[in-house]
Amino acid sequence: MHGFSYKNGSLFCEDVSLSTLADEYGTPLYVYSAGTILDHYKRLNAAMGDIDHEVAYAVKANSNLSVLRLLATHGAGFDIVSGGELFRVIKAGGDPAHCTFAGVGKTRAEIIYALEQGIYSFNVESEEELRYLNDVAGELGVIAPAAVRVNPNVDAKTHKYISTGKSENKFGVDFGVILDLYERASKELKNIKLRGLQMHIGSQLTSIAPFIEAIEKVTPLVRELKARHGIEFWSIGGGIGIIYEQSLQSGSIEWWENQMDDERPLTIERYGKELVPRLHDLGLKILLEPGRYIVGNAGVLLTKCLYEKKGTAKTFKIVDAGMNDLIRPALYEGHHEIVPLVEPANGVRVTVDVVGPICESGDFFCQDRPLADFNPGDLVALMSAGAYGFAMASNYNSRPLPAEILVEGGTATLVRKRQSLDDLIEGEL
Ligand code: LLP
Repeated sequence: MHGFSYKNGSLFCEDVSLSTLADEYGTPLYVYSAGTILDHYKRLNAAMGDIDHEVAYAVKANSNLSVLRLLATHGAGFDIVSGGELFRVIKAGGDPAHCTFAGVGKTRAEIIYALEQGIYSFNVESEEELRYLNDVAGELGVIAPAAVRVNPNVDAKTHKYISTGKSENKFGVDFGVILDLYERASKELKNIKLRGLQMHIGSQLTSIAPFIEAIEKVTPLVRELKARHGIEFWSIGGGIGIIYEQSLQSGSIEWWENQMDDERPLTIERYGKELVPRLHDLGLKILLEPGRYIVGNAGVLLTKCLYEKKGTAKTFKIVDAGMNDLIRPALYEGHHEIVPLVEPANGVRVTVDVVGPICESGDFFCQDRPLADFNPGDLVALMSAGAYGFAMASNYNSRPLPAEILVEGGTATLVRKRQSLDDLIEGEL
C-alpha cells in the first residue's frame, strides 16, 4: 500500500497535491510519503510475529536525514556501508548500538570511527578483513563485535548487477569454509567477539523461493555456530522486492484483492508466513536489512516535460529530470511507471521514449512505452523512486541535485534544499 493516488483528477501524496509542490519547489523534485514508510516498517515488524527480531533499515536506499529520523523515532536499527552513513544515522538521532556495518572495503578510518561509536556488529566479508579488524581493535584496546557474511551460493533470480549471493559475486565468504573460519578466529583473533552470522543474496527479489532456499541451506550452519561459538544473531539481509509496474493501482487494497493468488507479487505477509516458522526455534535474534521495501514505493520523482521531439523513428518526450537524478533505468533497466499529475481523461496511449537532458543515449526513463499523453509544460511523476533514487543521484553534467520533500498527512516539509549553482563548485580550489 502507498500514499499516492488521484483525488479529484490530480495526483496526491497523502493529503498534499503534487502539482502544488512542483509549483512551489520546482522540478525535478523528490517527494516521499512518511505514512507509507511507517506503514511498510510496521507491516514488516508485524509479519515477523513474535520472533525476536530487529529491522536494520539499509541506509543506502535513502539516506535523507529526515527519513532516517522518522525510522529511528519508531525504533529502527540501521544497516550502514560507510562512515558517511554512520555519520548520517548519528546526526538523525539513530543509535550506533543498533547499527550493523556491511561492505567489502571498509577503510581504517571507517573501522576506527565505528569502533569509537560502539556499533552492534561489523559484518565482515573476508578473512583478511576480519584479521585487519582484529588488529585495529587491538590498537584501540577494544573488542570488535563481528559477524561474517556467508555467501550461500543461491541464485536470487534478479538483475545481475544486484545479485550478490552467488559464488561469482564479490560478496561474503564461501558457505563451505565458514565453520573453519570461525574456529580459527575464535582461537587466534583475541580482539574479535563473534556475535552473529550475516547473509544477503540480492535485491529486488520478487519470489519467496530464493529466500527459502538460502535459509534452509544456511540453518544447519547457524545452529552449529550457535552451539560452538555462542552467536546471538542471524541477519538474513534485505532484498524484498516491490512492485514497479502498475504502481498506482497497487496502492489500493482493491487491486491487491483482485489479484489471483498465483499472480500476487511477493507480499510482506507471505514473506513472514514462510520465513518465521523456519526461523522460530533457532533461539537467535533475527536481523532484517530491508531498504527498497521500506522506502521504494514511498517516493516519486516529479519532472516537467520540456519538449516533444518527433523523430522519424520515435517520439521523444524530453523532461527536466535526467539519469543523474534517477539512474535506475540506465543502470539496471529499471522500470518506473510514468504518470501525469493530471489524471488522464481517457485510456488513450501514445508510444514514446521519455528522456532526460543528459548527453548520453542511456539517459532515458522508458523506451517505446505506451503512456497517457502529456505535453510540454505538463508535470509527470516517475513512480516508486523512493529507494536508490536520490541516494544514487549525482552532479553529472553539472546539474544541481534536486530538492526533497517529506509529506506527513496534509503537511509537506522541505527536507533537502535544491542545490544552487554555487553548491556545484563548493570545495573546488
Ligand atoms: N543488506 C546488504 C548487505 C545489501 O547489500 C543491500 C543492498 C541491502 C541489505 C538492502 O537491499 P534491499 O532491501 O534494498 O533490496 N541500487 C540498486 C540496488 C542495490 C542494492 C545493494 N545492496 C537498485 O537501484 O536496484
